Amino acid sequence: MKVVVIHGPNLNLLGIREPHIYGNIKLDDIHRMLEENAKANHITLEFFQSNFEGEIIDKIQECLGTADGIIINPAAYAHTSIAIRDALAAVHLPTIEVHLSNIYAREEFRHKSLTAPVVTGVISGFGAGTYQLALLAMHQILAEIAHLKAQQGNKAQ
Ligand code: DQA
Repeated sequence: MKVVVIHGPNLNLLGIREPHIYGNIKLDDIHRMLEENAKANHITLEFFQSNFEGEIIDKIQECLGTADGIIINPAAYAHTSIAIRDALAAVHLPTIEVHLSNIYAREEFRHKSLTAPVVTGVISGFGAGTYQLALLAMHQILAEIAHLKAQQGNKAQ
């Protein structure tokens, strides 16, 4: 099982960027923590960060036929990007949107996520732990899909 973890703009600055909101943890530290959990659950992870909308769209499209699921923090693009929403809807993979901060407890312009309606679920507000929760959820979703496929296979025989 392969899951692609996509980070949007400014998330490369985690640890430096507004630590009172996003914490002191760096993106590499989050990746290390995720890798440990993924290994234990037989999930292969690929990490991708970009500050460019088009590159994020290309990466989402690349997931079609090559990945089983997506964990994405679209960052500010969650609030603005119809194009990223359309890409997520197009590939139609199990997808979890994450936000380190609780976007509903912040400025009003962050309360709306354009991407949220086309993903499987959203986890927001648990700092770096948000990504761990997303991996846990993704593991459950993928196990459920595998189980359903096995059942269908048994019925077909
Ligand atoms: C964020 C929340 C967004 O509103 C913001 O623009 C970000 C980070 C989060 O992880 O809390 O860049 O997605």
